[in-house]
Amino acid sequence: MSLPATHLSAPSPSTSTRSGSLLSAPDFLHAITELTSGSALDAPELVQIIATARADGELRETLCQMASDLRDRIYGRRVFFRGLIEFSNYCANDCFYCGIRAGNNTVNRYRLSLEDILSSCQAGYELGYRTFVLQSGEDPYFTDDRMVAIIQEIHHRYPDCAITLSIGEKDRASYQRFFDAGANRYLLRHESATPEHYAMLHPSELDLLNRKRCLYDLMDIGYQTGAGFMVGPPGQTAEHLANDLIFLRELQPHMVGIGPFLPASNTPFATEPAGSVEDTLIMVALTRLTLPAALIPATTALGSLDHKGREKGLKAGANVVMPNLTPTINRKDYSLYDGKICTGDEAAECRVCIEGRIRSVGFDIDLSRGDHLTYNP
Ligand code: 5AD
Ligand code: FES
Repeated sequence: MSLPATHLSAPSPSTSTRSGSLLSAPDFLHAITELTSGSALDAPELVQIIATARADGELRETLCQMASDLRDRIYGRRVFFRGLIEFSNYCANDCFYCGIRAGNNTVNRYRLSLEDILSSCQAGYELGYRTFVLQSGEDPYFTDDRMVAIIQEIHHRYPDCAITLSIGEKDRASYQRFFDAGANRYLLRHESATPEHYAMLHPSELDLLNRKRCLYDLMDIGYQTGAGFMVGPPGQTAEHLANDLIFLRELQPHMVGIGPFLPASNTPFATEPAGSVEDTLIMVALTRLTLPAALIPATTALGSLDHKGREKGLKAGANVVMPNLTPTINRKDYSLYDGKICTGDEAAECRVCIEGRIRSVGFDIDLSRGDHLTYNP
């Protein structure tokens, strides 16, 4: 089976008229059933699945339903909550897509103090959260010693909570120190598993090999590890997305973050078109089929692109939400892309809002730590 790469930001007519390149309904169903039963489909096969799901709304629905059923069989209809604390928007990197890239001098930079971080945790704890995600740009101010002090303090105060870091590329020794201090999970999206595409999204100082090295180190140390990617950034093809799925199958991460690319002002990609909801749902669903036990968030980016985006994500196989615990005054400054939702809301408002949304589509909320199925404490 083979199909030329499809440029996802281009509309679909060329795809649907490319005769012979799309799967018939029975072949599509056969292919996604194979995926579900653990078959290692190759890149051309995955490209055909992606292209067919893009072109045919009914088959896309079927794919999402299969992914949702699989999630139900493994985790039930429970959605896990993670409290997100965006503690610094300083960043040394210059990723072309990102609103807080070093080169964006219109950003109002902030760092939370230890005290502010701890009061965000406290607010989250009182709202019932048992997982905190500490996210920042790659901020040199937060040295390993400072991070260790923060992690130890949170671990000491909230021994029943999982601590997740999302602070970028580090060397293995640093990851080990954070783990020993009490961090249990780490989010580091791989962004693109295709070297040429990775290079279109990042300046030359950043390379995919190091990114992958980080992810393998994190897995090896014992973190519950999250990889992931955006859907629809400039230059992305169906071939690239197929490579992302193959990389996920190889790495076997515990978590996978997938959201649409959304343009950010004052970045090189400011005028590029956003990714689509449909393409994002396809990739959420295919990721669920590829990694049945993964914890997959219905991302804020998906909710920002479509007011029902997170609900749609859950219906396509996602099972995590990450409401924001960042102090309201700093929220608007953690602007990875334009139009981010929840920037004006208090933590408690997000909690109530998201709970209503989850229940509205027939899911229950789960405030436990929400560890991966394979995790043994
Ligand atoms: N649109 C969507 N997602 C973005 N991210 C960064 N910039 C954007 C953007 N413009 C995602 C990246 C990063 C995660 C924290 O946010 O995938 O890993
Ligand atoms: Fe923040 Fe809806 S989740 S306001």
